[in-house]
Amino acid sequence: MNRLIVGDGWLAYGAVDGGTRVIDAETGEALYDFTLDRRPILSMTYHAETGQLAIGDGEGHIMMVDTETWRITRDFRAMRQGPVWALAFSTEGTVIHAGGIDDVIYAWPVALLDTYDPAGGDTRSFLRDAETMSNGERQFMRKCSICHSLEDGPSRKAGPTLHGVFGRKAGVVPGYRYSPTLDGSDIVWDDTTIDALFDEGPDHYIPGSKMPMQVIAAPQDRADLIAYLRGATGKE
Ligand code: HEC
Repeated sequence: MNRLIVGDGWLAYGAVDGGTRVIDAETGEALYDFTLDRRPILSMTYHAETGQLAIGDGEGHIMMVDTETWRITRDFRAMRQGPVWALAFSTEGTVIHAGGIDDVIYAWPVALLDTYDPAGGDTRSFLRDAETMSNGERQFMRKCSICHSLEDGPSRKAGPTLHGVFGRKAGVVPGYRYSPTLDGSDIVWDDTTIDALFDEGPDHYIPGSKMPMQVIAAPQDRADLIAYLRGATGKE
């Protein structure tokens, strides 16, 4: 274990293997798992008043988690090169500071981070008014778009692009480094398997996967999400 944060009834820790997990402070029960394919976790900081948790890793990314909803709110490559060694929020929690191997300290206004995207991806669409979106699109924007692009070609997001995902075997996007669970898996992604993935949650449906655990409880939300993905991920 590299870093430990003590919250209100929970403990969050970051580990050498890249694990970022939250456990119940009393029972030790696993609550949340934000582990991505990036190791080691080198820095963590928590701003109690705004409930923001920030995590920095050896590959130069900062991930931010809202500890009220336990969702990843931001995830971006912060360093041009090298790791994120140190993280600190400003007193108000409105600015996140990061230090790495460069002899400068970076400071990002948290509110502007939605638009911060050095890869030039599509995170801007995040800012669109949620009311103008269909339920399926809203599900995708809120729960998937931080990690998945819909475009063809290489993506710098944490997960593989979902372009062309329907009818595709799991684990085959060229150039993406999958976990052993998906690499060589027999799953073919379609309405049924994607529905099962978020009905059961990745931790049950594809145990050992790098995709953080999350369940979409309402069948209608899953159906809407799948309908949206069918239209947005290109031809089968
Ligand atoms: C925090 C990041 C993150 C979020 C959020 C996330 N995913 Fe993923 N997803 C991943 C990662 C990482 C993988 C690769 C898993 C592996 O290699 O084990 C993945 C893999 C997948 C795959 C398999 C792709 C393939 O090529 O086999 C599908 C399908 C998928 N995600 C759909 C979704 C959908 C739909 C959502 C939103 C409901 C979502 N994911 C949310 C990170 C994420």
